[in-house]
Amino acid sequence: MTRMIVNGEPILYKLDPETPLLFALRDASNLTGTKYGCDSADCGACTVMIDGKAALSCSVSIGSLEGATVTTIEGLAANGTHPVQQAWLAEQVTMCGYCEPGFIMAIAALLQASPNPSDDQIAALPNICRCGAYPRIRKAIARAASASAPVRP
Ligand code: FES
Repeated sequence: MTRMIVNGEPILYKLDPETPLLFALRDASNLTGTKYGCDSADCGACTVMIDGKAALSCSVSIGSLEGATVTTIEGLAANGTHPVQQAWLAEQVTMCGYCEPGFIMAIAALLQASPNPSDDQIAALPNICRCGAYPRIRKAIARAASASAPVRP
């Protein structure tokens, strides 16, 4: 059994400790905003925040998360729309949308750590967009970074 806080709610998972967090979230908690992509830490579709830092949920076993705080796309903005989501809408980033939750979680975590990220930091994001919306994603990052509202969940 593993206890953690998911989107502000205490959760007790009665699952094999080797279960990837991705499957616990999607299958046991019905938090399907976190996407299954490559299952090998290569695409970023499964990105969530663990204790405030971006993490690939396909590659983290729940047994290692006793007492951790997990935030998914569903819990990113407790009251309204997160500034990264607002920037996403303003720049009309979405194409197929599959990578979107992972990108938004990764960017939100990046901006929490580095409010004005460098090109190298942005390029280091592990997320992939198969539609190739990278120019609009970069515009959304710049817009969110320059937003006057603090970039916090
Ligand atoms: Fe986790 Fe691709 S599904 S990185």
